[in-house]
Amino acid sequence: MTPHEFVRRLIPHRNAPQVQHGQAWAPVNIALAKYWGKRDTALNLPQNSSLSISLPQLGTDTRVTLIEGADRITLNGQPAPQAFAQRLSRFLDLFRPEGMGFAVETHNSVPTAAGLASSASGFAALVKALDQLFDWRLSAQKLSMLARLGSGSASRSLFNGFALWHRGQQTDGLDSYAEPIDIQWPDLRIGLLEIDTGTKPISSTAGMQQTVATCPLYRAWPEFAEASVQAQLAAITARDLPQLGDLAEHNALTMHATMIATHPSVLYWTADSVSAMQQIWALRQQGVGVWFTMDAGPNLKLLFEKTDQRAVEATFPTLKTLVPFG
Ligand code: PMV
Repeated sequence: MTPHEFVRRLIPHRNAPQVQHGQAWAPVNIALAKYWGKRDTALNLPQNSSLSISLPQLGTDTRVTLIEGADRITLNGQPAPQAFAQRLSRFLDLFRPEGMGFAVETHNSVPTAAGLASSASGFAALVKALDQLFDWRLSAQKLSMLARLGSGSASRSLFNGFALWHRGQQTDGLDSYAEPIDIQWPDLRIGLLEIDTGTKPISSTAGMQQTVATCPLYRAWPEFAEASVQAQLAAITARDLPQLGDLAEHNALTMHATMIATHPSVLYWTADSVSAMQQIWALRQQGVGVWFTMDAGPNLKLLFEKTDQRAVEATFPTLKTLVPFG
């Protein structure tokens, strides 16, 4: 199935715009059980399920309008960089009425300094805005599948709190969507530790492809990743941070081990990333409950609870602490 056919399956009756603009907001999310590897690159179908937590204080606000002529795309009030605009226009082609363009105004409240990818919140906000513009009234499950076509991790940014993106089994991708997990955890904290905000050496899409194609350890990943999701669900239900933190850290390090064992190697860490990991392990030795996770970049995301916030911030004075259930 092509992405165009997939969209036609989800939105059988395409409406003309019902309102002048569609406008929506979506949060960024951090995977605690990672998505790494696609089984279908066109439909962004993953090799494994994944589990995330959204950060409601950070995200993307997007307003979309149908216009005559070519697309006009702005990012934080400026014309968007070419690569960004091209990626968005290609995605918008899936929904474009014949001969029309879209004006897209996107604002990211994700500070570049946080070193967080904004594609997840970006594509989630965009499909919500399109849903309004065309009055599709799609379920969150269907919006999650449309966001998935833009960026896999965007499937999880439709929701606040914890979300689980089901791998799915079907080749048509209609069973691969995210769902919210109905658990509140007010004392949970996520700390963003910026190591380096320069551009990454290789995009997550290219990194995944290379890993799946050449990493001899990768064949162990899908089964391990599914078991991680199940174990993390149990830890979340019990609100057991030592358990969840340990599982999330091990999951991230296992993903990075597959990246490192890719040929040629995909290494997102810098020396400062490794020393931050060692500082976190030293803090744990001293009885502070803090764990880390890392994505396709050198920055760390820390997990801890309110009771340990002071100790963690004392060690990492530049840490930006967020309250996912605030
Ligand atoms: O959705 P993408 O293509 O940006 O890939 C995300 C990959 C990781 O951030 C490393 C893991 C994840 O599950 O978010």
